[in-house]
Amino acid sequence: MKPTIKELLQLEPFKQSVEVQGWVRTCRSSGNLCFIEVTDGSCLAGIQVVAESVLENYTTIVKQLATGVSVLVGGILVPSPAKGQAVEVQAESITLVGDADPAVYPLQKKRHSFEFLRSISHLRPRTNALGAVMRIRSALSFAVHRFFNERGFFQIHTPIITTSDCEGAGEMFTVTALDPEKLQQQNPFVDDFFGQRAGLTVSGQLQAEIYAHSHGRVYTFGPTFRAENSNTSRHLAEFWMVEPEMAFCDLSCNAAVAEELIGELLTTVLDECSDDLALFDTFVSKGLFEKLERAADRSFIRMTYTEAIGELKKARKDFAFPVNWGIDLQAEHERFLCEELAGRPVIVTNYPKAIKPFYMRLDDDGKTVAAMDILVPGIGELIGGSQREERLQILQKRMEEAGLAQEEYDWYLDLRRFGSVPHAGFGLGFERLVQFVTGMTNIRDVIPFPRTPGTAFC
Ligand code: 4AD
Ligand code: MG
Repeated sequence: MKPTIKELLQLEPFKQSVEVQGWVRTCRSSGNLCFIEVTDGSCLAGIQVVAESVLENYTTIVKQLATGVSVLVGGILVPSPAKGQAVEVQAESITLVGDADPAVYPLQKKRHSFEFLRSISHLRPRTNALGAVMRIRSALSFAVHRFFNERGFFQIHTPIITTSDCEGAGEMFTVTALDPEKLQQQNPFVDDFFGQRAGLTVSGQLQAEIYAHSHGRVYTFGPTFRAENSNTSRHLAEFWMVEPEMAFCDLSCNAAVAEELIGELLTTVLDECSDDLALFDTFVSKGLFEKLERAADRSFIRMTYTEAIGELKKARKDFAFPVNWGIDLQAEHERFLCEELAGRPVIVTNYPKAIKPFYMRLDDDGKTVAAMDILVPGIGELIGGSQREERLQILQKRMEEAGLAQEEYDWYLDLRRFGSVPHAGFGLGFERLVQFVTGMTNIRDVIPFPRTPGTAFC
C-alpha cells in the first residue's frame, strides 16, 4: 500500500518521489500554475499539489479537477514556501481516476448544515467535520480495547440475538422468521426459528456476568438495540456500548474503574487527535479543549441519589419535572447537577430500587440499590452501572417483584447458586462519549449510520 497523506506530511522533504492518491478538495489556477489540495481521509489536513503548465496534460486536466474528483498524482515532495504546511508535492503526472460532476455533486466547498449532511449519509464522511468525528471515534474505540487489555480484562463477544431482556424495560426488537400472519396466532414463537421469542440485545451485561464468574475481569463492546420511541439528540435505536464486568468488585471499585477509563480515553484523544479536536473547538464547541482537560484531570464529584435530590430541591429552579425523592432523574436534573452545580462529571449512586432493574444489589436500608450513573456536562448520563445482587434469595425476591419468570433466568440464578461472588460492572454509551469528546450536539452525527424512529438509511 502507498503511504497515506498523513504519512506523507510527516516525511522529510528530501526531494523524494511520492505518489498521492485521494480526492480533490480545492483547485485554483493562477497563470501557469495550479494549486490542488488533495485529501484522503487519513487526517484533517490535505496535501498541496503544485502543477505547472509544462505538464503534458495540463490544460485538459486542470479543467477536470473539480471538488470531489479522485486523482493519482506522481511527483516530488519538497519543502513548501506556503504558510501552514511543511511540505508540498511538485506534480510530474496527474491522472483523473473518477469524475464528480460539479453540476450534481452535492458536496461543493461551502458549509453545509448537519441536517443536510444527514440526508446524504453516504457522502458526509468526506466533509471535514464528519471525517474528524470518525477518526476520533476510531481512536476512542482502539483506546477502549487497549485500556482493558492493559488491565488483564478479556474481551467477550456477547450475542446480538438473545432471549433475555437485560434491562427489563420491554424495549427489545423481536427477531422473527415467521410470516406476519402467523404472528397473530397464540404462542407463535414456538414455531419460530429459535423455538422461543428472541430479540436484539439491549445490553451484553447478563452474558458478561457469566464470564466474570469464570474469567474474573471481562468486557464486551458491541452494538445494542432499543425499540424506545425517543426522538432526542441523545438516543439511538442502535448504539454501541462498552460494558466491563468484574468479579470481586463492589460499587466503589466499579466507580473507580469507570473514572479511570474516562480519564484515559480523554487523555488519548487529547494526545492523538489534537488537529481534529481543534476543528471542533473552533467551529462546533468553543472551549472544548479546556472542558476535556478539566474532565481528564480532576476526580469526579460523588454524591448519593438522596443527596442529589437535596441539591435539586435547594436549587429552587423551575424544572419541568418536579423534584421528589423517588423520581427518575430527567435530563434537565442531570445536566443541572454536572453543569451548574459541579461544573464537571458527577457520579450519582444508590438510586431508589423502584426505578432500577432487578439485578442491582439491594442496599442495607432496603430502599435503594447499589447503582451508579455518571453524568457529564453537555450530555447528562454517559454511564449506567451497578454492583450486582449476588445473594440468591434476595435476587429471587427482586425478580418476583419485577414480575420476571424465574424459569427463564435459571442460568442467571445458577451463578448465585454456584460460587457466587460480589461483582459489578457498567455500560458506557459509546456515541455519548463521542458526543462529549467532540461537542457535537446531535447523536445522529457521531455514528456512521444512525438508526432512529423512522430512519434507517442503507
Ligand atoms: O443505563 P443503561 O441502560 O445500562 C445498561 O444497559 C446496563 N445493563 C449496563 C451495564 O451495567 N453493563 O445504558 C448504559 C449507557 C447509558 O448510560 C447511555 O450512555 C447509553 O448506554 N445509552 C444510550 N445511548 C444511545 N442511545 C440510547 N437509546 C441509549 N440508551 C442507553
Ligand atoms: Mg441508565
